[in-house]
Amino acid sequence: MLLSINPDKLHDMATDVRTVQKAVIPAAGLGTRFLPATKAMPKEMLPIVDKPAIQYVVEEAAKSGLNDVLIITGRNKENLISHFDGVPELEYTLQRKSDTNKLRKVHEASEIAEVHFLRQGQPLGLGHAVGRARQHVGQQSFAVLLGDDLIDDRDALLTKMIEVHDSEQATVVALMEVPPEQVHLYGCAAVEPTDEPGVVRITALVEKPDPADAPSNLAVIGRYVLRPEIFDEIDKLEPGRGGEYQLTDALNALAAGKGERPVYGVVFDGRRYDTGDRVGWIQANLRLGVEHSEFGDELSDWLLEFADGLREAKAKSGRAPQ
Ligand code: G1P
Repeated sequence: MLLSINPDKLHDMATDVRTVQKAVIPAAGLGTRFLPATKAMPKEMLPIVDKPAIQYVVEEAAKSGLNDVLIITGRNKENLISHFDGVPELEYTLQRKSDTNKLRKVHEASEIAEVHFLRQGQPLGLGHAVGRARQHVGQQSFAVLLGDDLIDDRDALLTKMIEVHDSEQATVVALMEVPPEQVHLYGCAAVEPTDEPGVVRITALVEKPDPADAPSNLAVIGRYVLRPEIFDEIDKLEPGRGGEYQLTDALNALAAGKGERPVYGVVFDGRRYDTGDRVGWIQANLRLGVEHSEFGDELSDWLLEFADGLREAKAKSGRAPQ
């Protein structure tokens, strides 16, 4: 006997029960803010304390249950790809010395998740980079994590976003309040409240608005949980801010009601480090450095002394101590 099932219904059921399993990490940027360090090295390989920035992001994805990670790369990213391989000759030497601690450090990057790489092809913007993931992602929802934003692993932002996605079957974007004078550095959201604290409905998004046109001081930080319909919106994109295909513009089309489902924002108030900025990168090193199990105490003692010296020097030079 043939069962008569409406194929659209079946498709809906299949997409509705399946939760998020894949992460996409765009990593094809040129890193010009860190020149000359990034002249011959990908910016994603700059260390935060003793681990390259990209490793923190892959660990965050895995910790949120996303074990399939697609990294979108570009030119000069060979070191980044190699970081997720084993290094037999180094491992052999460490094994002979019975240095299990260092051996574990060499191993860990290749064991975090199943990591795939795809070349962006042309550097046409974040929307274009995410659009390249279509074939890998298929008809599933997926997360996007931007490497410039480091979320402290004690603050489970992505897990919360996946929960909202699963309960609402909606696109979810991470938002954070920033001072109004910084809004022009980010995508910015117009929002309405919902019944759930910390969750808002996004009605519009604008990429890097002039302060006068900013709909709020809620900035898009680099975490997204996207449904597959984003790819159709990306396909329709025209070049936006900076002449690039902007993910924010594709999300705005969904938020403005052109898609069937709403777009939600999870407002994050935890620890985020902007490692794409030189000052933010130094701060991240210090903040995570003072908590390091091996040398955190030594570093914080030094920092306190250093800060005393700075205060004194500022007082002498007539500048008010901070
Ligand atoms: C990208 C996005 C922007 C977002 C930001 C978060 O901009 O286009 O909407 O607010 O990441 O870090 P970028 O900083 O890559 O220029």
